[in-house]
Amino acid sequence: MDFYDDLAPLYHLIFPDWSHSIRRQGEQLDSVIQSEWPGHRTVLDVSCGIGTQTLALAGRGYSIVGSDLSAREIERARREADLRGLAIDFKVADMRTAHEHHGTGYDLVISCDNSVPHLLTDEDLLLALRQFLACLRPGGGCVITVRDYDKEERGTNLVKQYGARVEDGKRYVLFQVWDFDGDHYDFSFFVVEDELATGLVKTHVMRSRYYAISVERLCELMREAGFEDVKRLDAAFYQPVLVGTKPVTG
Ligand SMILES: C[S@@+](CC[C@H](N)C(=O)[O-])C[C@H]1O[C@@H](n2cnc3c(N)ncnc32)[C@H](O)[C@@H]1O
Repeated sequence: MDFYDDLAPLYHLIFPDWSHSIRRQGEQLDSVIQSEWPGHRTVLDVSCGIGTQTLALAGRGYSIVGSDLSAREIERARREADLRGLAIDFKVADMRTAHEHHGTGYDLVISCDNSVPHLLTDEDLLLALRQFLACLRPGGGCVITVRDYDKEERGTNLVKQYGARVEDGKRYVLFQVWDFDGDHYDFSFFVVEDELATGLVKTHVMRSRYYAISVERLCELMREAGFEDVKRLDAAFYQPVLVGTKPVTG
């Protein structure tokens, strides 16, 4: 998608230290996975982006396929994997057709950091969740992490600060502006690039839309899609983690 294609070269700047976040998220996801589904090792990440969780889990010995709708993010994820000496199979794919693209038999399907709310209707979410289920072997697990929208203010002109980072002689200042429209919101992600030696400033702006779905509703949709033992884990990650298991029979 255009938003993430344009954001791909800048995406790591969202994090104060992307490498540190990769390591921390890897430890946290590994711990969730091994306590819910001990021994599960093959993973399909259906919204890997530039690879935050994919690189993390590959580095911890998981066998992982990373896919995403954004071709430029996948290009960058491939480069990041090469830089780290990690062998990862990356593909461009829409999570709503994950089963057609990736087949079945995975121990785990993951979609982290608020990716599924880019699907803007319950119908689309259900379609994607059924595809995740189809990609799993019986007994396989699904891990989804999302923003907790019950804790977010609704309104317009809402500014969300992401801070400032200095890299290669430039200071980048990052912030989003949100405008709610019912249960959805449009947002603009501004990245102001300030060249410190010359004072030359360039502003990047990327725009997209999210469905501010509640964690509770997403859990209901996971059950409706056919997952069992669906639950929300709150202290495991920096966002709520939703887990569900593909039934062994039925
Ligand atoms: C907030 S980013 C998270 C990326 C990655 N998981 C991370 O934490 O770095 C959301 C991702 O969802 C992807 N995405 C949105 N809609 C998608 C779809 N229908 N199928 C696959 N990926 C999608 C975007 O391209 C983007 O990479």
